[in-house]
Amino acid sequence: MLTIEPGKIPTKDLHQFILGAVAPRPIAFASTISKDGQPNLAPYSFFNAFSSNPPILIFSPARKVRDNSVKHTLENLYEVPEVVISIVTIDMVQQVSLSSCEFPKGVNEFVKAGFTALPATLVKPPMVKESPVNMECKVIEIKPLGTEGGAGNLVICEVLRMHIDDALLDEQRKIDQRKIKQVARLGGDWYCVVNEQNLFQVEKPNTQIGIGVDALPEYIRNSRWLTGNELGQLGNVHEMPLINPAFEDDHLKKIIQYYSLNPDEMERELHTYAKKLLAEGRVQDAWQILLGA
Ligand SMILES: Cc1cc2nc3c(=O)[nH]c(=O)nc-3n(C[C@H](O)[C@H](O)[C@H](O)COP(=O)(O)O)c2cc1C
Repeated sequence: MLTIEPGKIPTKDLHQFILGAVAPRPIAFASTISKDGQPNLAPYSFFNAFSSNPPILIFSPARKVRDNSVKHTLENLYEVPEVVISIVTIDMVQQVSLSSCEFPKGVNEFVKAGFTALPATLVKPPMVKESPVNMECKVIEIKPLGTEGGAGNLVICEVLRMHIDDALLDEQRKIDQRKIKQVARLGGDWYCVVNEQNLFQVEKPNTQIGIGVDALPEYIRNSRWLTGNELGQLGNVHEMPLINPAFEDDHLKKIIQYYSLNPDEMERELHTYAKKLLAEGRVQDAWQILLGA
């Protein structure tokens, strides 16, 4: 086990451990403007949403570890406390990376990275035409987290207006998670993309309370075959299932027929079959198999 004490390793190394561990991070593409009207565009993956009412986003332009200088984005925000935060998708990622170069102050990254600036409706910084989601924000507070290189500056923003491309929406006019192909930042040069191959759903347990892993019968909780994820699925039912006399399953019948003389093998077969059903999302059926054990 590698144990790290912040302060005992160089900041640049600690930074990489944090980036690798706290990942994937969504990317805020932050469009700001100086008091002279010079636009600036830069990506920030120390970013997330923190409240819906009021709608609050926070991102963090850090002091550079190398020379303790601050980002142009931050300088602009002190001059004009407004920002458009755009969502970064797979179609934009190379240009977004290009925009993160340390261009001299006053260089317009919209031009350098080849993005199209669209006038925003409520704030001065422009929106990014190529992004499917633009959020016009006012800055509520900037909270410096330190004065040394590597110190973040929390830019706390309130969303005033969101613009979402129709092409992302489903029939209910909600964002279809399969259509918005966000990219996220990890450690080093790694990114990941949201697409159908890596999306999966986990049933939301917030309307009814799950019975909990601690309530599972001991032979299930201590199963040699079931994983933590599978126990989580079983513990997420809202009441302890009872044996259903009407439950019929050909495979269960075969297991009982072939393995009734060998309890160990029978357990293995039942638990392995339950795993298969859980993988298919058939939680109640898996319970019936396990209760039959
Ligand atoms: C995907 C990505 C995410 C980044 N996230 C951050 C971040 O969270 N904080 C930060 O200070 N710099 C971050 N950077 C680096 C800045 O984008 C970079 O320093 C940029 O030059 C700042 O531009 P500016 O000085 O015009 O504001 C990131 C770069 C990339 C490519």
